[in-house]
Amino acid sequence: MTTKFPIASTLFALFLFSPALALFGNTSTKAAEIYSAACASCHGSDGRGAPISQVGFDLPLPDFTDCNFAVREPDSDWNAVAHAGGPARAFSRLMPAFGDALGPEELQLATAHVRTFCTDNAWPPGEFNLPRMLVIEKAFPEDEAVFESAVAAQGDGAVSNAIVYEKRFGARNQFELSVPFGRQERATADGGGWQGGIGDIAAGVKRTLFFSRVTGSIFSVAGEVLFPTGDREKGFGRGTTIFEPFLSFGQILPSEFFLQSQAGAAIPVDTQRADNRGFFRFGTGRTFTQGQFGRSWSPMIELLGARDLVAGRTFQWDLVPQIQVTLSRRQHIMMNVGVRTPLTDARSRDTQVLFYFLWDWFDGGLFTGW
Ligand code: HEC
Repeated sequence: MTTKFPIASTLFALFLFSPALALFGNTSTKAAEIYSAACASCHGSDGRGAPISQVGFDLPLPDFTDCNFAVREPDSDWNAVAHAGGPARAFSRLMPAFGDALGPEELQLATAHVRTFCTDNAWPPGEFNLPRMLVIEKAFPEDEAVFESAVAAQGDGAVSNAIVYEKRFGARNQFELSVPFGRQERATADGGGWQGGIGDIAAGVKRTLFFSRVTGSIFSVAGEVLFPTGDREKGFGRGTTIFEPFLSFGQILPSEFFLQSQAGAAIPVDTQRADNRGFFRFGTGRTFTQGQFGRSWSPMIELLGARDLVAGRTFQWDLVPQIQVTLSRRQHIMMNVGVRTPLTDARSRDTQVLFYFLWDWFDGGLFTGW
């Protein structure tokens, strides 16, 4: 069992080293010392992973100098792994649990030292990756695939779905493609029935303009184009190209609370077919963790306001209470379900049940990490 060797030597080093810990005053020196005693035998003193000849196993070690990988992981995930071992986030047992050998503050220092291996400050940290709301577009750039669904809870039957694909590029940018499709019940001359079709396909880019660890804020600008790919006659598209610029803002609050908001406009090329529209969306929520490092539950509420930019129209408001839950142990697969209730014009707009299934594909395959 060669694999026992690095673990045993690490624990022995810790044993020798722990009385010395108290002597270090400077936290960054202390963090470096803890890292080199507890973590470097496997992760390497440079954070790139020690060679197979030294660790005695051939499982690839993460490269902590790779900002694209390292910065997106929030401290909470790394602390869970350092404390309870790889299996806490469905990684290998070869990543040992240090919860018994090191106290929470020492582990925090060890992960803080791991953070120093990425030296490029352009990357927004994973803490800003707040839970995705059902409607508001978050400010954090993401690698994810989402299946979204909206089902009419009253009136004629209607189901609209979309597959959304998001891909990061560079430190702060994201590309997005959204393909909507749906089915709806319609009255026709021969009695009516369900009709299906594809909607208006959208493509967009987002860029984070600003983030601050000090204030806990992140701010991004984005632009989307909706192409008239849907069949307007059947009610699946607007029949004109629409430009949608918007701003997104996220704010981390104390005690796992957060705010997210989005404001923008929809500007159609052909105003005979769709009106210019402005929108404002505001949401808040809190994340609850089951057990010490378990599943995350995030109840949230969104307030959605939109107004056609035409004289005489008024604001339409909707409320969307919802709950997001992580499904996989890696926390890279999650779902959210909520209800969109009109607060104004309730007669002309239906209540809808909204749902999504989300896969952060960068963190692992659909069938790994459970
Ligand atoms: C005995 C070898 C060993 C030691 C010692 C060790 N690790 Fe690890 N660690 C691993 C392995 C192997 C993996 C990869 C697991 C996988 O990919 O399934 C890993 C993964 C990790 C990850 C997960 C990265 C990700 O993909 O999200 C973190 C964080 C981490 N280690 C932190 C630490 C810290 C902090 C210490 C010291 C307190 C430490 N490790 C000590 C072997 C070790």
